Amino acid sequence: MSKFLVKKTDELHGTVEIDGAKNAALPILAATVLSNEPCKIHDVPNLSDVKEMCKLLEHLGAQNMRRGKSVSVDSGAVNNFVAPYEMVGKFRGSFLVAGPLLAKYHKAKVSLPGGCPIGSRPIDLHLKGFAAMGAEISHENGYVELSAKRLKGTKLYLDFPSVGATENIMMAACLAEGQTIIENAATEPEITDLATFLMCMGADIKGAGTDTIRINGVRELGGATHTVIPDRIEAGTFMAMAALVGGSVTIKNVVCEHVKPITAKLKEIGTEVQESEDEICVTRKKELHASDIKTLPFPGFPTDMQSQFTTLMSLVSGTSIIVETVFENRFMHVGELRRMGANIKVEGCTAVIEGVNALSAATVKATDLRAGAALVMAGMCADGDTVIEDIRHIDRGYYQMEKKVAALGGKMERI
Ligand code: UD1
Repeated sequence: MSKFLVKKTDELHGTVEIDGAKNAALPILAATVLSNEPCKIHDVPNLSDVKEMCKLLEHLGAQNMRRGKSVSVDSGAVNNFVAPYEMVGKFRGSFLVAGPLLAKYHKAKVSLPGGCPIGSRPIDLHLKGFAAMGAEISHENGYVELSAKRLKGTKLYLDFPSVGATENIMMAACLAEGQTIIENAATEPEITDLATFLMCMGADIKGAGTDTIRINGVRELGGATHTVIPDRIEAGTFMAMAALVGGSVTIKNVVCEHVKPITAKLKEIGTEVQESEDEICVTRKKELHASDIKTLPFPGFPTDMQSQFTTLMSLVSGTSIIVETVFENRFMHVGELRRMGANIKVEGCTAVIEGVNALSAATVKATDLRAGAALVMAGMCADGDTVIEDIRHIDRGYYQMEKKVAALGGKMERI
């Protein structure tokens, strides 16, 4: 089993290139099920979650092939409508095939994804949306079975702007009869990217990126070629890492608007951040100071950056308060950070962090992918050898993180 060995790093310097966004690539790959024609998707990150999605597509009968950073998918021969537990259990993004299968093939049997370390993560909003569009839904043996002759457009309001539910319902609505209006929709950039791909396939979607999305159903969708947006969370992680360790790092292939809440917070605590067209340069020259953070749906501060900022705030002077409002159990990394000497108290969804001067190395476990990134950052500021176990979580979201970190002068290797 591989582990990461991370050592104290004085400064980071150089340029890091960001990959395509995992959270955009996964729904886009699922959306190919809506078409009979081949699709070509560029800048698809070579991550384990993406490989699992490609395996799932193959299991459904969709041929797919990776060449470099591009994946070609031909879903014309989809003939299996069951997404089994062995696959869905590995990564929740796989539930995104439910909407496309239901809309195009009128049936789907998908394993319920179950909970995960960061929270119970139900799929009730996805199912409520499908039901409002006329789908019949039953649960048996851990699976949800969906069927509908042709889905019917409707107006629905999401109780919470869930990213996955917005994506699943938007995909299903593309082939529904009539107009679907999703109110209180998620506005994350990954939603807009998925809508762009669907529109290239021939879908009629207006308002993606706002909280009201209108989809006029069409009879069929064709093939499309699309380039996935850069990963704002990978970019944000390197931004936070540069601020924490010090030095000057240029982050290439980033959409500055997508990382605005991260840029704003880094500037507020004393980091220099310079933005140009598709690059951001993060420089830390002086001591950083404490600040408070509340995670929120986009354009608020992303929950996927909360763990990394918990590490960052552990090493700045003063008291910071971080409130997690998106997931109910996303402070799993705190126990490991405390073992490394961080002074953090958690009460419900709030973490109170008293900055300390230094951390000390330890053997720690990555509990989820962003928690893993937080531990890598902590290891770079700790005296001694930090060994990170369960790094399969980190590999789910960061492609060869150790190589990118090492190229900036960071002391990190896979052992
Ligand atoms: C996606 C991202 C994940 C990110 C999250 C929030 C992917 C593959 N993953 O996850 O990295 O952290 O958005 O930005 O894109 N909820 C319900 N019922 C539902 C659906 C969600 O109660 O039917 C709740 C969840 O439990 C959670 C909150 O809504 O508390 C947000 O979840 P959601 O936006 O759906 O996240 P995901 O799409 O699972």
